[in-house]
Amino acid sequence: MEIQQWQTRQDGLDCLVRATAPMPAVPLPEDHVLVKIHNVSLNYRDTEVCMGLYSHHRSVAVGGPEPLVPCSDMCGTVVAVGSGLEIDFKVGDRVVSVFNHLQRTGHMRPEYIKSAGLGLPLNGVLQTHYLFPSIGLLPAPEYLTDAEACCLPIASLTAWMSLQVAEAGLNYKAESPDSRLKGKIVVAQGTGGVSIAGVQIAKAAGATVIVTSSSDAKLETARSLLGADHLINYKTTPQWADAVLAATDGYGADFILENGGAGTLRQSFDAVAFGGVINCIGYLGGKTTKKGQEEEEDHAVSVLALRRNMTLRGIMNGPRDRFEEMLGFYEQHKIKPVVHRVFPFNESPAALQYLFSGQHFGKVVIQVAE
Ligand SMILES: NC(=O)c1ccc[n+]([C@@H]2O[C@H](COP(=O)([O-])OP(=O)(O)OC[C@H]3O[C@@H](n4cnc5c(N)ncnc54)[C@H](OP(=O)(O)O)[C@@H]3O)[C@@H](O)[C@H]2O)c1
Repeated sequence: MEIQQWQTRQDGLDCLVRATAPMPAVPLPEDHVLVKIHNVSLNYRDTEVCMGLYSHHRSVAVGGPEPLVPCSDMCGTVVAVGSGLEIDFKVGDRVVSVFNHLQRTGHMRPEYIKSAGLGLPLNGVLQTHYLFPSIGLLPAPEYLTDAEACCLPIASLTAWMSLQVAEAGLNYKAESPDSRLKGKIVVAQGTGGVSIAGVQIAKAAGATVIVTSSSDAKLETARSLLGADHLINYKTTPQWADAVLAATDGYGADFILENGGAGTLRQSFDAVAFGGVINCIGYLGGKTTKKGQEEEEDHAVSVLALRRNMTLRGIMNGPRDRFEEMLGFYEQHKIKPVVHRVFPFNESPAALQYLFSGQHFGKVVIQVAE
């Protein structure tokens, strides 16, 4: 029996090819777990990797000579275990992947980025089976389907890390996430995977949530499905910071899930509350500022930050222990990730293109196992 997989040479979303790889032989290497993959969820990063555009982490080489299996987020079942497991899994356990198994706790480090990270630089999970080190897995929550559980590793954890108290730092363990966020104002930009996870976490914890989107229909879904409190169409209201201030009596947002990057940061600076946090998560609106504007904007950032005595914080997913902490919160509130559409494994390239087109609300998932 062989592993079925999709491979990319990082040369385009329409250039992925089907391939096979040998099934790991039993006995498995020490401290390793063989997982049959049921579902994979897609992240914007996966589209960038397949297009050779994931270049902003200097320690990750883009476009190596070998074809790469993309994607990082999966839910599956343990089908074999090696000896000497650090984390005790047994055959039949349902598990989810940890994006970077070296980041057990605390901050990301350059050597972790360089040598781990599913779907670049390591082969990813867009395949039928994967051999994980035991530390690279966590138990999947029982109340979630496989399609829902596979959405947790990147989108949910990134949103979870973004909704933390900045002063407490990354290692802070909240005694009560609910009390930390209760009554706070959260802006979630767009209706993609990270943003919608952020809406769910913030609402569960009692925050007031403002969602921005290019689509009125998606905004209505955010209200009716997830209870979003205020809705702003960033296409028809390009100065959406004014709308955030109007909705909050001039207060602004305590937390902004900044997904647009160069396209939205300027508005976020005007929408953030005094003492608030802008979480630099994404760059859907571009990674660089426009030429001509560049000098002025770069020069202005420090002034803009101090002007409202706020924190501009870079976010990079999160460590394994915080993923565990988040799973406890999800379990407590029975949060179910929003799965917008499920594609069959043989339509994986179409699924990646669909995600890239931005038509979705929440997550796009691939059904790997029949
Ligand atoms: N730093 C990290 O650890 C980390 C982790 C995960 C993701 N990311 C990054 O965060 C971003 C979001 O990731 P994702 O996986 O959630 O992506 P996604 O699911 O592909 O999100 C797509 C949605 O984002 C919204 N969007 C697009 N351009 C926008 C803009 N200019 N302003 C506001 N919203 C915009 C659109 O929502 P509407 O259709 O509603 O307008 C679009 O449907 C990406 O740049 C990704 O690379 C970073």
